Amino acid sequence: MVQINFKDVAKRYADGTDAVRSLNIDVRDGEFLVMVGPSGCGKTTALRMVAGLESITGGELVAGNRVINNLAPRDRNFAMVFQNYALYPHMTIFENIAFPLECEGVAKAEIKKRVEHVVGMLDLEPHLYRKPKSLSGGQRQRVAMGRAVIRRPHAFLMDEPLSNLDAKLRVQMRSEITQLQHDLGTTTLYVTHDQVEAMTMGDRIAVMNKGVLQQVGTPLEIYERPLNMFVAAFVGSPSINLLSARLERTGDGVICVVGEQRFGIGATPELEAWIDRGIVFGVRPEDVSLRSDAAGKGATLKAEFVLSEMVPPEQLVHLDLGADVVVAATEEFDGDGTPRNLQNGKIIARIPSEYAISPGTGEWAIRKGHFFDPANGALIASVRFDLN
Ligand SMILES: Nc1ncnc2c1ncn2[C@@H]1O[C@H](COP(=O)(O)OP(=O)(O)OP(=O)(O)O)[C@@H](O)[C@H]1O
Ligand SMILES: [Mg+2]
Repeated sequence: MVQINFKDVAKRYADGTDAVRSLNIDVRDGEFLVMVGPSGCGKTTALRMVAGLESITGGELVAGNRVINNLAPRDRNFAMVFQNYALYPHMTIFENIAFPLECEGVAKAEIKKRVEHVVGMLDLEPHLYRKPKSLSGGQRQRVAMGRAVIRRPHAFLMDEPLSNLDAKLRVQMRSEITQLQHDLGTTTLYVTHDQVEAMTMGDRIAVMNKGVLQQVGTPLEIYERPLNMFVAAFVGSPSINLLSARLERTGDGVICVVGEQRFGIGATPELEAWIDRGIVFGVRPEDVSLRSDAAGKGATLKAEFVLSEMVPPEQLVHLDLGADVVVAATEEFDGDGTPRNLQNGKIIARIPSEYAISPGTGEWAIRKGHFFDPANGALIASVRFDLN
């Protein structure tokens, strides 16, 4: 068990690529920390620097109060689990799991005892004397976990260990790995590009983009208070609706103008400086509901029903705000890299599938919104509209 501290850690590859820039994260002792971000953002590079497989070109990496920048991989006592499992095909499951102990010269009887313990923990008993090729993907992944666990390492380093599994197995293995990590209490740094995996598995999540750390926090913090548009758009599915808006002052408060529509947003000191300026207004699909619904509290917007996609128990309702409201998301801020299929002025609401929606224009309530600086994407304020 150990804590791992990134102190301004940087990686510039020989060809000049800045894969990781001035990274600061403190992974706590026993914590499950997930590093997440789109392809190429530097996750694997960061993990390989911790493992000692990649040199560090700036800053300090500290493990258990000791700078380990130049420590050989075998002296770090971290166990790495890869996407492709890296099992030895000619060895049985028993031999694969026992291998790290064999290398350390552990006595045969002790090896047998420890393998049996690990195999019991991972439900692999029936397969002990089979070769990896006769196992399913999930079983192979468990063998790879077993080989990592048996060393009793100071930390686990996992690079997309579930991405070769089919969707159903991935969901099952998520909770198995989380459970195992909680039981063992071993500090874990886990890398994935999948925001759902990150949200469900991590005690805390570190969101990266283009080699730069965007935010570290619990899944709820990241979701409820994303520090910038990138994080806001990266987590949550479907993605947050981002609209160009403008703030204006009225007699006793501030109103938000979206296209031709206006709604009061109460007194929010952080927004004072933004009056009469353009701003980005973000609202998550689940924070939009039918005004007529009991839960339909908050700011009211009029919108025209376009279509509904049924995904019981929910539906995704596409709405047209009727004005030329440019969806502010650009590729830059579009977390998962998928093109947004929203046209000008359209937003998505996520509501229960049993609600029937009449065609035409109706009133929709917005519970909560996030305001961002259009120039750099930084969060200005997260505001509840449903409290009074
Ligand atoms: N050996 C290398 N030499 C030069 N550039 C590299 C090298 N390895 C990785 N890179 C670059 O560094 C950046 C980060 O790569 P990295 O593999 O860490 O990303 P990642 O977040 O793990 O992506 P993915 O989700 O696709 O696995 C990328 O731009 C990549 O092209
Ligand atoms: Mg990678």
